[in-house]
Amino acid sequence: MSSYAEVYAAWQKDPEAFWAQAAKAVDWIDAPKKIFDATQGPYGRWFPDATCNTCYNVLDRHVKNGRADQTAIIYDSPVANTKRKLTYAQVLDEVSALAAVLQDFGVQKGDRVIVYMPMIPEALIGMYACARIGAIHSVVFGGFAAKELATRIDDAKPKLVLAASCGIEPGRVVAYKPLLDEAIRLSSSKPDNVILFAREQAKAEMVVGRDHDWTSLVEAAKTAGKRAECVAVKATDPLYILYTSGTTGIPKGVVRDNGGHMVALTWTMKNLYGIEPGEVFWSASDVGWVVGHSYIVYGPLLHGATTIVYEGKPIGTPDAGAFWRVVEEYKAVALFTAPTAFRAIRKEDPDAKFLSQYSTKSLRTLFLAGERADPDTVAWAETVLGVPVVDHWWQTETGWGIVGNPVGLGLLPIKHGSPTVPMPGYDVQIVDEATKPVANGQMGSIVIKLPLPPGCLPTLWQNDGRMKESYLEEFPGFYKTADAGFKDEDGYLFIMGRTDDIINVAGHRLSTGGMEEVLASHPAVAECAVIGIKDELKGEQPCGFVVLKSGVTKSPLEVEKEIVALVREKIGPVAAFKIAITVNRLPKTRSGKILRGTMKKIADGDAWTPPATIDDPAILDEIAAALGSKGI
Ligand code: COA
Ligand code: AMP
Repeated sequence: MSSYAEVYAAWQKDPEAFWAQAAKAVDWIDAPKKIFDATQGPYGRWFPDATCNTCYNVLDRHVKNGRADQTAIIYDSPVANTKRKLTYAQVLDEVSALAAVLQDFGVQKGDRVIVYMPMIPEALIGMYACARIGAIHSVVFGGFAAKELATRIDDAKPKLVLAASCGIEPGRVVAYKPLLDEAIRLSSSKPDNVILFAREQAKAEMVVGRDHDWTSLVEAAKTAGKRAECVAVKATDPLYILYTSGTTGIPKGVVRDNGGHMVALTWTMKNLYGIEPGEVFWSASDVGWVVGHSYIVYGPLLHGATTIVYEGKPIGTPDAGAFWRVVEEYKAVALFTAPTAFRAIRKEDPDAKFLSQYSTKSLRTLFLAGERADPDTVAWAETVLGVPVVDHWWQTETGWGIVGNPVGLGLLPIKHGSPTVPMPGYDVQIVDEATKPVANGQMGSIVIKLPLPPGCLPTLWQNDGRMKESYLEEFPGFYKTADAGFKDEDGYLFIMGRTDDIINVAGHRLSTGGMEEVLASHPAVAECAVIGIKDELKGEQPCGFVVLKSGVTKSPLEVEKEIVALVREKIGPVAAFKIAITVNRLPKTRSGKILRGTMKKIADGDAWTPPATIDDPAILDEIAAALGSKGI
């Protein structure tokens, strides 16, 4: 029997008592006396009078309490052909030395540090070192181009950048330093210093006076006996900023605080994921995404578990058995990834033949999130692995599962296509445009009653205005998730898609608005529209339509190629923008709104009818023909 209903009811009855109890799992410097203050921030703040240090809770207290020699981080990189294990004591040693180095460069509480690093343990060490001294890290995913990095540098205004010389994609080394140099050149808030971790796969050109070698600095700090102690921060002080796609090209700086974040993640490790301290929890994501922040970097170590930093892919590094090998080798009890990874494995190895080469008997649960988990993929994963497959739904903004199936409280019956039920802390409702609840089974906007629980964003970085406008104004009293879906008669949620222009490509969140800005900047383009179209592997893929300016002499094919290259250059390879289609005109309403929704239905092969407000229905046939000419 699951105790979910009881636990959820206890939270509903007295949310503050619920979170006060959960907060006992954290080692505070000053424990919270006040649990919630509704007068602070755009919707209130958790644990407003407490002080703490996240790094202390991740490392020091476990070293003190007998976990010094337990492995904290397992690094497994099929692309760098390297494996390494670091104990809690070793990580603490590295972190306190690096934190001392940061202090030597003048980094203090509240200063921002950009982390531009691949999936190596040093990325985590850099993040913990910031947390140790109260600096605010902002990790930028390696698949973004220089311009995206520059935008984030301009918004965060970092004092210093932690970087590595390269990332490694299958068959290609991605040199980070030229991208970083270009980003700093483009930005108007130039960091004073760069500390660069040199990997043997790429040598970086160092700018004298600005760039410094990570390894020698840390060695020197250790030799000199320099170690930084944990700095006390307010529970409400930011731990990090993580930029995520908004509806325009300017990303949103999601802020995470220290106290609420620790309380929420610690609660989830046991109750949602069913993990015990000392066990191995594997989140096959990237430190550049929220899943990586919460469940590679922070959650497992806050809980005294072991995390895996896997620098590889589900397929091709070297084959579709990669995930099973890692599970077997490190006896992972849980695997957390995006459904796209399983679609990729299934496509490559439909009969799961590789599984017979490994034992995955340590695995108790597979967790999926990041995009809609299609029932077919869930059923396949369940059959081949023979363990429960738990879909759960959340966002960068919330930092942890809004809706899930709480393994630690006792699994509820699984319904394919549904991430199950709201977690304590979240009162999730489906409403219409007037914020009126809709009937069970009816689609509507998914909203969360305020206040959001601990761990969710208190605001956007230095932008309460955008926070209110983006999330709090449309449905008064509620947080707008910008997802649409429905609830069934058992209270199970079904998340069907976004209500804005965000698309989800291979579990990566991207803005079509941002891509349109790039397309529109091409000199031959008069107007454009980017939509996300169905993709068997990645869930969705972006597809751009362009109308060329009159008098353009280049061939449409040439412009299309240039546009594809331009998106890669401006946003980065992660945009996965490969389809550009030239058309004579775009379908619009009589008031001039581009009919992106109808274009998507045509591309996806869904039933569609021309909207009553359409200006010229014939254009929809032209769109269908243009898609057909590209084999879509
Ligand atoms: N640095 C540089 N480039 C990167 C990158 C990184 N960290 N991550 C991805 N890219 C590049 C890829 O190499 C690819 O480049 P290409 O166009 O030259 O092939 C491009 O960005 C698109 O990447 P992706 O959409 O991931 O496609 P893929 O074909 O490389 O891989 C999957 C497809 C399904 C195997 C892959 O997306 C995957 O493993 N997904 C797992 C889920 C996941 O990590 N989700 C994150 C949130 S939980
Ligand atoms: P991100 O902020 O990158 O985590 O992306 C968040 C968005 O991904 C959500 O708003 C959803 O649109 C989508 N998403 C995440 N998890 C799920 C899920 N389990 N089911 C359906 N959609 C999901």
